[in-house]
Amino acid sequence: MSKLLTLPGLVDVHVHFRDPGQLQKEDFYTGTSAALAGGFTTVIDMPNNTVPITTAQLLKEKIQIAKTKTVSNIGFHFGSLGNNLDEFEKVKNKVFGLKLYLNQTTGGFIIGKKELVRIYDAWNSPQPILLHAEDDVLDMVFEIVKKTKRPTHICHVSSKEELLKIAKAKEKGLPVTCGVTPHHLFLTKEDAKRLGAFGRMKPFLKGKRDTDFIWKNFAYVDIIESDHAPHTLQEKNADAPFGVPGLETTLPLLLTAAEEGKLSIDEIVQLCHTNPIKIFNIKLKEESFVDISMEKFTVQRKKLLTKCGWSPFEKRQLIGKVVNVTVGRKKVFENGKVLIRPGDGKVITPKT
Ligand code: DOR
Ligand code: ZN
Repeated sequence: MSKLLTLPGLVDVHVHFRDPGQLQKEDFYTGTSAALAGGFTTVIDMPNNTVPITTAQLLKEKIQIAKTKTVSNIGFHFGSLGNNLDEFEKVKNKVFGLKLYLNQTTGGFIIGKKELVRIYDAWNSPQPILLHAEDDVLDMVFEIVKKTKRPTHICHVSSKEELLKIAKAKEKGLPVTCGVTPHHLFLTKEDAKRLGAFGRMKPFLKGKRDTDFIWKNFAYVDIIESDHAPHTLQEKNADAPFGVPGLETTLPLLLTAAEEGKLSIDEIVQLCHTNPIKIFNIKLKEESFVDISMEKFTVQRKKLLTKCGWSPFEKRQLIGKVVNVTVGRKKVFENGKVLIRPGDGKVITPKT
């Protein structure tokens, strides 16, 4: 047995579990099982379901479903297309953030500047606004953040230009944080050619100049977010919807990079535990731990617990196999198997 590394349970504030609406891709049980297998004991799910989660009633129904299926801690972000401002007051203690799309992606829930201004005025909550905002819209975004001072998290930074703009905004003292996905750190557009539909996501994969720049300027990156966005093999082969799964490969990719001297274990804990907890006001009643065997393994689809059953990192040799996950005093995962029943995990809110 190679040596065991023990880390606190990791937190991923950016997952798409597709429940309700697209259960062929994932559901709360398979999604949270994949989370545990990847060392994540807490996840926050995005609102771009087939019927987007933009009312208190829809959020309530989603929470009810999650309560019967989850095996990890799970919380939610709310959504808006600019026509549900009256709902904000009702949900603001129940969600960890408000997610808005300023560029085209899965679901097509894109909004423009007019709606964005109205939403920023109405979101009267300490919880951050999370933005899918690529390079072309960032100047406009930071103008609004400067005026409103609302905490704003820029999701999945993928290019040099984006990170430069975010760094400048931070240096000016704007309340801005950002996240990077593993695919934007460990894959480039060269891989996209090889992977075809299985390397297609939004933002698109960029060049080596971009990944190199992000690695060199990690000081400006607050969190790692998987953007776990499963689609079935059949769907990918048919019309190549945007998105790739990530929960089960994020930690091994980072641990492999740590072995190569690209970042430290302490930084992994900051990026995947301490910072997300701080930025999103996550209060966890129980401590959780992940034991990892620092051995080499090859990413194989048959070993994955995500329902979509594939990974853009298949055949990569990585270091770091999650062997045990403990939440509170309970062992919840061991050697590839979830040990608790659907619904034994907890739905969390910023006030719990
Ligand atoms: O690639 C992506 N897939 N990017 C997003 O922003 C959304 C996600 C999805 O829901 O499939
Ligand atoms: Zn996403």
